[in-house]
Amino acid sequence: MRHLLSPLDFSLEEVSHMLKLAQDIMRNPEKYSHVCDGKKLATLFYEPSTRTRLSFEAAMLNLGGKTLGFQSADSSSASKGESVADTIRVVSCYADICAMRHPKEGAPLVASHYSRIPVINAGDGGHNHPTQTFTDLLTILELKGRLDNMTIGLCGDLKFGRTVHSLINAMKRYPNVSFILISPEELKIPQYLRDELLSENYNFKEVSNLDDVMGELDILYMTRVQKERFFNEEEYIRLKNSFILDCKKLENAKKDMYILHPLPRVNEIAVEVDDDPRAAYFKQVQNGVYVRMALILILLGLDKGMLEQ
Ligand code: NCD
Repeated sequence: MRHLLSPLDFSLEEVSHMLKLAQDIMRNPEKYSHVCDGKKLATLFYEPSTRTRLSFEAAMLNLGGKTLGFQSADSSSASKGESVADTIRVVSCYADICAMRHPKEGAPLVASHYSRIPVINAGDGGHNHPTQTFTDLLTILELKGRLDNMTIGLCGDLKFGRTVHSLINAMKRYPNVSFILISPEELKIPQYLRDELLSENYNFKEVSNLDDVMGELDILYMTRVQKERFFNEEEYIRLKNSFILDCKKLENAKKDMYILHPLPRVNEIAVEVDDDPRAAYFKQVQNGVYVRMALILILLGLDKGMLEQ
């Protein structure tokens, strides 16, 4: 049985197939509206979510399936001390596939060892968020027509931001992609990720000033400072407004540089930027549904022959 815990669980060919399937779903939604009739998706969310949980639910409903689940650890037996291993064994009796978000890194991996249904990691602590990454890839592909030959700036909380970690891992597999990592000293990428980039000779640089590099970027991926992962509130308050993207700052950007953000946004993108044609973060939200529809089909083995129909 197949799970999705990291974006690297799919080969480049599999990612490419999934993105093609998502694009076909985007263009021909009615073709897919009954493929999951009779199937159930469980959403097991031990951490807050708006987009990820609702887009998983919308994805399953669009495919003709049904959903069940819980939205917080408080409303599940986790509050009574039940382990993830026991919970997933129980959920395996109720659903055909599940999406799990958990504050602890590796919790969906543990669940996958005990599960009888495919487990999708919907965000584990500061570690990975593969379905957001596939959403980002689809958005970049739709906007730029390619995933290779580009410079991506990732800006904000690169230490705790799981979407950043997954996106770097996914994008580094495409030819001639370089990364500009823009953050305050305290929020630089984790050492393990830096070591991987160094040992594999990837093209990246770490800077602290967004203005200096704006003109080099093809994609600017803004992120929120991850308040909930700080040990110290004062440190969060000091760092939370490190970067605020506004129209003035965008004057030096390329005309075809797109701005992505996994959302939620706090202060890091001024609302005035929403009207700039390069602002792509609400397009990402829509793409997230198509990608999750494609992923559900693939993990349930229901994608066979769909592209040929
Ligand atoms: C992100 C997450 O949960 O990691 N949100 C999302 O799923 N789109 C980003 C964030 O919370 O900052």
